[in-house]
Amino acid sequence: MDFKEELNAKVKIVDEYMEKFLPPAEKYPSVIFEAMRYSVFAGGKRLRPIMVMEACKAFGGDVEKAMPFACAIEMIHTYSLIHDDLPALDNDDYRRGRLTSHKVFGENMAILAGDALLHHAFETMAEACVKENDLKYTRAMLAIARGAGVNGMVAGQVVDVISEGKQIDKDTLDYIHKNKTAAMIIGALKAGAEIGGAGEEEIKKIERAGELIGVAFQIQDDILDVTSTLEELGKPINSDEKNHKVTYATMYGVEGASKIVEDMSNEALDILNGMGERMSFLSRLTEYLIKRKN
Ligand code: IPE
Ligand code: IPE
Ligand code: MG
Ligand code: MG
Ligand code: MG
Repeated sequence: MDFKEELNAKVKIVDEYMEKFLPPAEKYPSVIFEAMRYSVFAGGKRLRPIMVMEACKAFGGDVEKAMPFACAIEMIHTYSLIHDDLPALDNDDYRRGRLTSHKVFGENMAILAGDALLHHAFETMAEACVKENDLKYTRAMLAIARGAGVNGMVAGQVVDVISEGKQIDKDTLDYIHKNKTAAMIIGALKAGAEIGGAGEEEIKKIERAGELIGVAFQIQDDILDVTSTLEELGKPINSDEKNHKVTYATMYGVEGASKIVEDMSNEALDILNGMGERMSFLSRLTEYLIKRKN
């Protein structure tokens, strides 16, 4: 199997478990369950759940037991996208190749679908923690909560929003990227590593790799916002310019920004490769992300 086939097989596994952990669409009041499912099953790359699974596996854990956490982080990520697209934030009409949630269900239901996914994520993780009765699962939930909350993704989104139209400096831009995007990637890798039984030193290394991968991932997202197409990306291009955002692409140009993506990814690869053959899938994933087109 080549890498892309291997990746697609993992996406399929994530989708099967997402189906299992999400409430059925027929439940009353069905509009909210439909809205949750509409955004979740729209064809995301499923990177964060795959990172949870692979980090767990790398440290010798049982991937089956990581699945509630893998799916939970994808629910949180999907909620963050629904809210990110709202008129009050980036005001975008397409996501994952479909009309955005608020375009289909209205702003009220889009806000509530985001809320519902966030809470369902924590319900899913808390249930697993109770069932397993082992603190490493609680630590995994904590890693995800930290990555998503006001010390992570939400903080990054706040500074992203209040920086619109301003000439921010590199430190502020790095704060935004580290928090709005890298924090969730770090959370995914750390949660998987905790469930897999990694030691403190190993967790520190994987967190540092996650920070580099996460910031590089957001820089690539900024590049694709100016170089890609709606068809390829599944979301509108030039969204950042529309919202007067400073990005790595505006600060360094596309070529300069691409070089930074490569350098940061190579630094992450050094860390991963230094941890041995067990990191081989995560290394290949990191290499793949440098050249990603969507
Ligand atoms: C989009 O994330 C938001 C960013 C943090 C850049 P992804 O590019 O992982 O989006 P999906 O999940 O594949 O739709
Ligand atoms: C948002 O960054 C990252 C999130 C936390 C949702 P962007 O606003 O650049 O993400 P896209 O380009 O809309 O996916
Ligand atoms: Mg945004
Ligand atoms: Mg956006
Ligand atoms: Mg973007």
